[in-house]
Amino acid sequence: MHVPHWIERKREGGELKPEEIRVLIGQFTAGHVPDYQMAAMAMAIFFRGMTETETAALTAAMRDSGRVFKWPAGTPPKVDKHSTGGIGDKVSLVLAPLLACENFWVPMVSGRGLGITGGTLDKLESIPGFNVHLSGEAALRQIEKIGLFMAGQTADFCPADKKLYALRDVTGTVPSQALIIASIMSKKLAESLDRLVLDVKFGSGAFMKTREEAEALAAGLSAAGNGNGVRTTALLTPMDEPLGQTVGNALEVAESVETLQNRGPADLVELTLELCVAVTDLPREIFRRHLESGAAWDKFLKLVEEQQGDARALENLAAFHPAPEVATIPAPNDGVIRRIDAKAIGLASVLLGAGRMVAADTIDFAVGFSGIRKTGEPVTKGEPLLAIHARDTAGLAMARQAVERAIVIE
Ligand code: URA
Repeated sequence: MHVPHWIERKREGGELKPEEIRVLIGQFTAGHVPDYQMAAMAMAIFFRGMTETETAALTAAMRDSGRVFKWPAGTPPKVDKHSTGGIGDKVSLVLAPLLACENFWVPMVSGRGLGITGGTLDKLESIPGFNVHLSGEAALRQIEKIGLFMAGQTADFCPADKKLYALRDVTGTVPSQALIIASIMSKKLAESLDRLVLDVKFGSGAFMKTREEAEALAAGLSAAGNGNGVRTTALLTPMDEPLGQTVGNALEVAESVETLQNRGPADLVELTLELCVAVTDLPREIFRRHLESGAAWDKFLKLVEEQQGDARALENLAAFHPAPEVATIPAPNDGVIRRIDAKAIGLASVLLGAGRMVAADTIDFAVGFSGIRKTGEPVTKGEPLLAIHARDTAGLAMARQAVERAIVIE
């Protein structure tokens, strides 16, 4: 192993062999390749990119850096979804129980909020008592019992990604397509899935701002999945306005509960059903019936109980997490809503405390936005456009300003 030589080859636009990548990642995980060499390699990859073969090898090496789920023979097909992140995206909370209702196993390993986009783990932790720290053994027991778990990464799950992501975060190498693909897909591949659906978002509130960028990322993610034996499909979905009508952790769980009880907003319901269809090839109506019959809600209750959450709190999470300052924002004039900028709402939600500015920040579960209207809707002057939930009057004033700039009515 001569790491400087590999770095130089990549720096000059050459290709690394799969075996070299495997050794590099293995030795980096074991602490034998220092951070400065790995950071230099990440920068070389950032500028030179990787071929499909290199990216697949990097993904597989990162998957194999830790625990890979091994499922007992003869058990149901394992399926999951990954979203590249959006504002108000609470799809996972509805989709996982829906898929489990159809006797799929859903081993969902999720992440926390990243930048202005929310994370499933933070949302789940707004449910009092909910435990996202499952050992591999506990996760297997639970999936055998109820068909799903929703948990965070354990220390032995893709440790190479944990180390490399921390380095990328501080060396300007996060937005490398090859590194993003390997980071996302190594974690999904370690779930040993049969099928995966990707929700690749584009627009103001997404990582990828244009459809073209999202298409390129979707193609790369799908190739890494399919190239490693997981049938992977991707949907490209817009993220110019928040999904559903809420942004903020407890508020989003409350909206997910309503959706599981068949009272959800149309955009959230339809996207969730579309993703269920894409990952199973089953008709949409089957999943819609699980919302109508209460089966999906029952499954979610089981999930919460299994993971020590207080199921009784679910239907009244607002009371568990009351925001001291709540105010509605009225429409300033008659017209049609032309824009509710997802980026501005996402940023305001982080500033309110719903996300983190630095990794050590704690999340304020109560704050965010509710009752968010949709673009294309007509409004009359004075009608509420949304409600702000803030910890204090300063937060309320900040969010009010942000919202007034984010919403365009013409
Ligand atoms: N999400 C990840 O898990 N990794 C990335 O590199 C980017 C988004």
